Amino acid sequence: MKYSILKFLKDSDGFVSGEDISSSLGVSRTAVWKHINELKQEGYVIESSSRKGYKLIESPDRLTKQELMPFLNTRYVGRHIVYFDSIGSTNDEARKIASKGSKEGLVVIAEEQTSGRGRMGRKWTTPKYQAIAFSVVIMPKIKPEESPGITLVMGTAVCRAIREVCSLDAGIKWPNDIIINNKKVCGILTELSAEIDAVNYIIIGVGINANVERFPEEIKEIATSIYLESGRKVSRKELISKVFLEFENLYEDYKINGLKNIIDEFKSYSVTLNKRVNVTSINESFKGQAADILSDGTLVIKLDDGSERKVLSGDVSVRGIGGYV
Ligand code: BTN
Repeated sequence: MKYSILKFLKDSDGFVSGEDISSSLGVSRTAVWKHINELKQEGYVIESSSRKGYKLIESPDRLTKQELMPFLNTRYVGRHIVYFDSIGSTNDEARKIASKGSKEGLVVIAEEQTSGRGRMGRKWTTPKYQAIAFSVVIMPKIKPEESPGITLVMGTAVCRAIREVCSLDAGIKWPNDIIINNKKVCGILTELSAEIDAVNYIIIGVGINANVERFPEEIKEIATSIYLESGRKVSRKELISKVFLEFENLYEDYKINGLKNIIDEFKSYSVTLNKRVNVTSINESFKGQAADILSDGTLVIKLDDGSERKVLSGDVSVRGIGGYV
């Protein structure tokens, strides 16, 4: 009911009387008053006048379905949203939903994560109403070993969106960190459920430091936000909707052609290529020069002895980025 009242206010130009709302929606005037107060608590600025009724003055930058709807241009990504004011991890929540059966493009969004997860068992912090944290569920007909490519698709989508919405020179540190001015602004955590030869579903978790104002001492040299880089608060609604749209467009192509049509754009955003890198995978670590990214998303490293190594996933430190010297 609260959001029906909100829609009523949004659809009206000026003031609407409590009487009008109550008779149109079939609720008591006391209930209308109660819901209006709840909306005010959520950050909606609503003018109340005993004579004229209620008028919506301003909506907060919340990522609820109601607030996102006017910004969404997608066919299916983000058309089904599960929203939390606070949750442990959107990836965990998305997995619970997907394991029971979910539509492709379902998105779990949280304003805050209390146990957000990064790659390699790291923590990911999502300060309330400042960052963007979401997880998309997809079911591509691919083999499990092809799934790392999906991370590149999302990385390209986020990079495009930040460049267009925020006019910032965002780049990608292979495979999935979005970088501005040598600091990380976004991380992507792709997790999958699969049989030996087929993917059941993939969850792509994205954390964007949109309007984060400050970072803890231990990461402030390697992390940044769109706000800190541009000096302006970005509309999180606009940015997340743009990511959904760019992802849907790229993913549609990926389902037919794999990374073939995407890889050149990904490479053009790469801050890894032609740099000295240190690769850490589960059981080893080695250094070399990042020489190429192949059309399946593999990173090619030229080692100091002239030989080449191909890496499909792993943690890559790039000299000059994120404190690696
Ligand atoms: C990384 O860079 O290590 C990946 C960070 C991924 C963070 C996002 S925020 C939304 C989703 N939920 C999580 O718990 N993690 C991902």
